[in-house]
Amino acid sequence: MTTQLFVPKFRVDECLAQVKECLEKGWTGMGFKTVEIEDRWKEYTGLPHAHFLSSATAGLHLAFEVLKRKHGWQDGDEVISTSLTFVSTNHAIKYAGLTPVFADVDKYLCLDPEAILDKITTRTRAVVFVGLGGNTGQLDKVAQICKEKGIALVLDAAHMAGTRYRGKHIGYNADVTVFSFQAVKNMPTADSGMICFKEQSDDELARKLTWLGINKDTYARTAAQGAYKWKYDVEDLGFKYHGNSIMAGLALVSLKYLDNDNSYRRQISKWYRDELNGVEGIEIVPVAEGCESSTHLLQLRLERRDGLLVFLNEKGVYPGVHYTDNSEYEMYKDCGQCKNSVKASNEIISLPMHVGLSKNEVDKVSCLVKEFLKG
Ligand SMILES: Cc1ncc(COP(=O)(O)O)c(C=O)c1O
Repeated sequence: MTTQLFVPKFRVDECLAQVKECLEKGWTGMGFKTVEIEDRWKEYTGLPHAHFLSSATAGLHLAFEVLKRKHGWQDGDEVISTSLTFVSTNHAIKYAGLTPVFADVDKYLCLDPEAILDKITTRTRAVVFVGLGGNTGQLDKVAQICKEKGIALVLDAAHMAGTRYRGKHIGYNADVTVFSFQAVKNMPTADSGMICFKEQSDDELARKLTWLGINKDTYARTAAQGAYKWKYDVEDLGFKYHGNSIMAGLALVSLKYLDNDNSYRRQISKWYRDELNGVEGIEIVPVAEGCESSTHLLQLRLERRDGLLVFLNEKGVYPGVHYTDNSEYEMYKDCGQCKNSVKASNEIISLPMHVGLSKNEVDKVSCLVKEFLKG
């Protein structure tokens, strides 16, 4: 039997019922279900605005695009980011014509507030904070720095659906928070995401930009009366980034189980920690004090990481690496290299983490890790 890194759990009958409803209604695009998931997401997170999207990558681009227009940022203005992330985070900065500047990470593998302070220049406009694996790291301190320095805070919460900090769902202290509901995330659909702006005017601009700059969505036009219901204006060079009702239907089902699923993930994390904490030669990436993490990832650090990857593969266990330091990529070789990020990138391994894992499987993986370390 093999043990995979991620296996999404879909409640198939409930998902099919959602899809059936869309098909029977003859409405699969943006509309009734996208509105419903936006409402449910606002209720769930307590965030004031939520707009359902085709992906978090689209959302991150939109975040920078909206803030750039609002504040009149210039091309080439700087955004402090991490190199220990999926490339979407940094591509999004570049899509908006801005420049990523890498700052180093802390023991949580999230941006280190001190390192951010070192990178602030007169051209710094924003920080993008990635809650790696669902961890909040030192997000509160970073938010405080952004406030004091008058720079925007974008939260890449692709791994953070359901993460709470001191009892409150994350996103409350960012200018904009972007979630991913991609196929293997902890709140899976196939591909979709959510963007949550703090300000209503930003949410309004984002809605216009996700539908090509058109000033009314199709649903509103269909609901409108009279001979001019087809008419609209195009006020901006927007994008095709909005979500659709099929994905929203899957998201509604995933959201219903999110808290239960995340709590089982935390149980799995505890089982791993009980087995592996204190074992010589490895370190488990800690969860920040006060953070109830979605636990999208369970990451170990060890010097012989590559050897462990091969060993586990040979035993039918398929871990992952989140992530290769982005400064190694041609696209990002000029954004600065950060010592801790590069070191971490060579040491981290993500063990299987999904709600289909049993305690036996977690024990089996933990035993294999220990066996490797003895060898
Ligand atoms: C940290 C991070 N940011 C952004 C994204 C992009 O998410 P999506 O696949 O929904 O575009 C991902 C996806 O893997 C991610 O891990």
